[in-house]
Amino acid sequence: MENLKEFNPYLSYKGGTLYIEGVSVGELAERFGTPLYVYSASYIRDRVRAYYEAFPGSLVCYAVKANFNPEIIRVAGEEGAGADIVSGGELLFALKGGIPPEKVVYAGVGKTEKEIELALERGILMFNVESEEELYILDTVASKLKKKARISIRVNPDVDPKTHPYIATGLKKSKFGVDIEKARELFRRAKDLKNIELVGLHCHIGSQILEVSPYSEAVKKLAELWRDLLREGFELRYMDVGGGLGIKYRPEDKEPTPKDLAKAVKPHLEGLELTLILEPGRSVVGNAGILVTRVLFVKEKERKRFIIVDAGMNDLIRPSIYDAYHHIVPVEDKGEGYTIADVVGPICETGDFLAKDRRLKEVRRGDLLAVLSAGAYGFSMSSHYNGRPRPAEVLVEGDSYRVIRRRETYEYILYEKDY
Ligand code: LLP
Repeated sequence: MENLKEFNPYLSYKGGTLYIEGVSVGELAERFGTPLYVYSASYIRDRVRAYYEAFPGSLVCYAVKANFNPEIIRVAGEEGAGADIVSGGELLFALKGGIPPEKVVYAGVGKTEKEIELALERGILMFNVESEEELYILDTVASKLKKKARISIRVNPDVDPKTHPYIATGLKKSKFGVDIEKARELFRRAKDLKNIELVGLHCHIGSQILEVSPYSEAVKKLAELWRDLLREGFELRYMDVGGGLGIKYRPEDKEPTPKDLAKAVKPHLEGLELTLILEPGRSVVGNAGILVTRVLFVKEKERKRFIIVDAGMNDLIRPSIYDAYHHIVPVEDKGEGYTIADVVGPICETGDFLAKDRRLKEVRRGDLLAVLSAGAYGFSMSSHYNGRPRPAEVLVEGDSYRVIRRRETYEYILYEKDY
């Protein structure tokens, strides 16, 4: 039987049936239907705590984009997490999840004036500024509202995070942040802006990073810049080193821990007085969640076998757009033999697959499968493509569970016609 503990210690088989914490996954599927996202709250708590243990005195701002369900945010918040947001919508999700505004940091290359106003009115901790123009707009909007905008400059340290090119963000050619030289210039300019308070530096080099050496490189560069800025007389408080720590998707992956990350970055920060901010998303919720799906048909073609399931790329798009691997296990392990097949969804696209040429336990119509590591960038990237209502989400803790988002109905997705 699969060793699921390495993905999430709260996943196990009991008598051949998959459990998440104390709850049977099959029972949840019967009760709430499929496709269904199910999350383990205890896992999320453990992960936030692991960050705080590795980085005492820091502020862990959970990256809401990974999973914006307010009840998921609330669990992270209960363990002391703040929020990293990239839009007005995410700010409202974070606040709904009980995150105090003074623990919210706001990044993103395209903040609108309306979003900036909202964030200033709610009193967030700081904006992570990504361009010169944004700096001036922030000053103008803040002046209009008679507020001061606390800001960090997002620096692009030009390091290779060795991850999928779509999720590498700290390279020179990417749209994010500004080069180190430009950051110095922006600090000098920002000094004269009356409604701007400079409080720190920010970087985020990418996502699903499985080695910590790129962090060491990035933080080394950030710390050098920090020291230069101190010498120039700036008073800085927050060093935000972003998120991006990778997780186990494949059975053979070894995931770095927050402790490994701490070992890589702390030596560069010796002697500096600062509050470190971290923005983990995937490493907090990724392996907390599974996507439960039911087999609709098993189809044999001349050269291939297709297991057609009721979850599609509209529910979990990661395999389609990043060629991402998600491990898939049976909900009822009947101890049968193995088959090799593509696991595909009902969407009318060849790119609609969850797994290719995968060795899986034999399944037939009606069986349930669990797609692992689906807690991050799963529901949050889902859509109505092909006219499909989005799945329900269930949060499990110990022996209890509750629906934290109802399954969408046809009425709900037809609502648009009223505009
Ligand atoms: N901070 C900033 C500024 C970010 O842009 C991101 C992710 C994070 C923090 C959180 O990164 P994490 O700890 O989750 O790796 N949809 C892609 C991932 C895109 C990540 C975008 N930015 C995927 O499914 O792999």
